[in-house]
Amino acid sequence: MTRHFLRDDDLSPAEQREVLERARRMKLDRFGERPLEGPKSVAVIFDKSSTRTRVSFHVGISDLGGSPLIISTASSQLGGKETATDTARVLERQVAAIVWRTYAQAGLEEMAAGTTVPVVNALSDDFHPCQLLADLLTMQEHKGELAGLTVGFVGDGRSNMAQSYLLACATAGMHVRVGAPAEYAPEAGVVADAQRIAGTTGGSATVVSSAAEAIADADVVVTDTWVSMGKEDEKAERVATFGGFKVDQALMDQAKPDAVFMHCLPADRGFEVTADVIDGPQSIIWDEGENRLHAQKALLAWLLERAGSTEAAA
Ligand code: CP
Ligand code: NVA
Repeated sequence: MTRHFLRDDDLSPAEQREVLERARRMKLDRFGERPLEGPKSVAVIFDKSSTRTRVSFHVGISDLGGSPLIISTASSQLGGKETATDTARVLERQVAAIVWRTYAQAGLEEMAAGTTVPVVNALSDDFHPCQLLADLLTMQEHKGELAGLTVGFVGDGRSNMAQSYLLACATAGMHVRVGAPAEYAPEAGVVADAQRIAGTTGGSATVVSSAAEAIADADVVVTDTWVSMGKEDEKAERVATFGGFKVDQALMDQAKPDAVFMHCLPADRGFEVTADVIDGPQSIIWDEGENRLHAQKALLAWLLERAGSTEAAA
């Protein structure tokens, strides 16, 4: 049966481990698996801007032997004249998978419901699950076994990154704490899902109201922009509200001495993180950025094996 990856908990704990293990193998042997040989095409659609996601999917699909078809929504019919369902019905006859960066999670669900090929969330307003596969891979490289590690996310708790951290880390058996102002707390339903999953994996998922509580004794400190794509007109209000949630060296010093710092990028130095931290010795952001490539290749290969696709052999 075709599987989709719309949110982090679309992979079970065992499946998440399997994809991460495959990503580690693929990183060591970059051109060793060619499931898209033909080449088969994968459509990668962007409603929002991107550097890392665009490049890593383009390069990754090429590495897998396939042909990336990068589509900007502004120059397509999707969103304006055509529904996600109709777009999916057209694409599935010609491509092996659909990757989509969009606003509403509901659009991804509509796309997935209407197609036989795997649909991958390349970032929505609610989740950024491909980023989390890369982040978990990076944590494994720097910290070893994921289960039992403590991660503190500081900043916009309602953001796609914070909510994906809750679900993905709970799935990995980690202890995840989100520190956010009360008005930017994660959605209650996402927290409840993370706590339910954590109950099965030995992890935990907690929302706290201060940065210090979130990162106390943490192995990994994470933040993200205070102004996610689509929220630009709220910038002044957000900068005022998130002032106490900046990751600086004094905050880092309250985590474990060997804690690492992560950020999905792009970053606003001086706002959510100071330059000495993001550019300092505890930062592992460049490994994190590279690992988008390896993690997404493993995910695509894994999904393609489970796809009931009807695409033409191109
Ligand atoms: N981290 C991330 O998704 O970056 P882009 O917006 O550049 O794709
Ligand atoms: N939360 C950020 C992530 C960017 C990769 C945004 O949605 O803009």
